[in-house]
Amino acid sequence: MPEERIKAHVRGRFSAAVADYEHWAVVQRQAARHLLTLLPERSFERVLDIGCGTGFLVEGLLEAGGARNITGIDFAPRMVEHCRRQWPEQLFFCADAEAFEPCSLYDLILSSFTFQWLERIPAAVGKYYSFLEEKGVFALALPVSGSLRELQSAALVANGKPLHLLEFPDPEVLDTAFRSFRGCHFRHEIQELTAWFETPLEGIRSLKGIGASYGGGEVYKVGEMRRLLQEYEKTFGVPGRGCPVSYRVWFGVAEKTGTGDR
Ligand SMILES: C[S@@+](CC[C@H](N)C(=O)[O-])C[C@H]1O[C@@H](n2cnc3c(N)ncnc32)[C@H](O)[C@@H]1O
Repeated sequence: MPEERIKAHVRGRFSAAVADYEHWAVVQRQAARHLLTLLPERSFERVLDIGCGTGFLVEGLLEAGGARNITGIDFAPRMVEHCRRQWPEQLFFCADAEAFEPCSLYDLILSSFTFQWLERIPAAVGKYYSFLEEKGVFALALPVSGSLRELQSAALVANGKPLHLLEFPDPEVLDTAFRSFRGCHFRHEIQELTAWFETPLEGIRSLKGIGASYGGGEVYKVGEMRRLLQEYEKTFGVPGRGCPVSYRVWFGVAEKTGTGDR
């Protein structure tokens, strides 16, 4: 599928998911909260949130009280409308993160669970880093390869083929992109974050609920889906807890030190 059509499809899925997003986005909320704990303790005058969704990062930043002027961008119109209603005093607009060119610099640029959707991740990382003020901070969280391991393993055992989901980036790609910045202090870590769903079907539905689209491959037939659900519950289900959906999440924070910045 051409890039523009994939983007239009993904944008439509996220826009449609807005009403239920927060119900399903258990790991996404945890990741946003954790990313905020990794920020240096200081206040930020101008903040940019890329792929703001329903605003987990915005909410956390405002609660913590260290951020003043927040701009959020998202390419899904209904996500943007939601944030505008929620925080009318902040600025939200509809834009494709890969085409967006900020017209000013920021002292905090952050993004959670969005960069995995971008076509050219290293180019986007480099672009946004270049829009940091001196001593600015760039903080990113996103799922990487190894995410959704329970569902993919059950799919392989049940049907001999994986589910057609978004391909998550290799963490090396992120490490390399961040290490290329000079004059900055860079820290990163990987955590496995798990959400538990009552039934195997709910585990699968959580992917749709957060707007995650099947990656344009062949559609699973009813019988294949039934086998997958049985295998998923048999191998990974835990009585009293349900079925796990795990994401391997890469967190990175680059703080400009003001010497030799690119
Ligand atoms: C999984 S949600 C994460 C939302 C939010 N950051 C959070 O932590 O819950 C991903 C968001 O990125 C947006 N998105 C994906 N690709 C985008 C792009 N190319 N430009 C702008 N927004 C994009 C989607 O519309 C969606 O709202």
